[in-house]
Amino acid sequence: MKHQFRLFWVTAFAAQLAGGVGQAQDAAFGGEIYKTYCAVCHGKAGAGDGMVGELFAQRPANLKHLSRGNGGVFPTERVTDAIYGRGKIAGHGPTKMPIWGGYFMAEALESRAIDPAEAAMITKGRVLSVVAYLETLQEE
Ligand code: HEC
Repeated sequence: MKHQFRLFWVTAFAAQLAGGVGQAQDAAFGGEIYKTYCAVCHGKAGAGDGMVGELFAQRPANLKHLSRGNGGVFPTERVTDAIYGRGKIAGHGPTKMPIWGGYFMAEALESRAIDPAEAAMITKGRVLSVVAYLETLQEE
């Protein structure tokens, strides 16, 4: 099962590389990642009301209001950095956000068939897909 799951990522990512997959499909791929890794804290619909998130003193961000909080423009770079876990999030101290860049990287490397360069590409593909998905959640 776990193996199948990993194979899914690799296959899905290879498909992305091969075929100029459009934004919509990236976002669908990102939606799967979101459900698996993010919803527990940020909530099913991204409103920051996930079950685990409720236990935090520092509440997970409402991911539907990222554009609203940035003058109506989706803050692609900030969001990407927040997910990778590099730098800190403006206005917060050290972040309570898990470092997904490192996590996805480690997970990809668990498979011996993958070298670090490939793992880095898979990681980037996953992070960018989830960013594309978050962009679709934005409310005015
Ligand atoms: C263990 C709980 C937890 C999980 C799981 C989690 N987050 Fe977060 N996240 C947080 C918290 C808490 C914050 C609040 C900001 C901070 O800590 O600085 C946050 C902040 C963010 C931000 C920053 C928002 C901003 O205003 O810049 C983004 C983007 C984000 N999370 C996306 C994600 C994505 C995508 C995933 C899944 C890959 C995820 N988070 C999984 C807890 C979590």
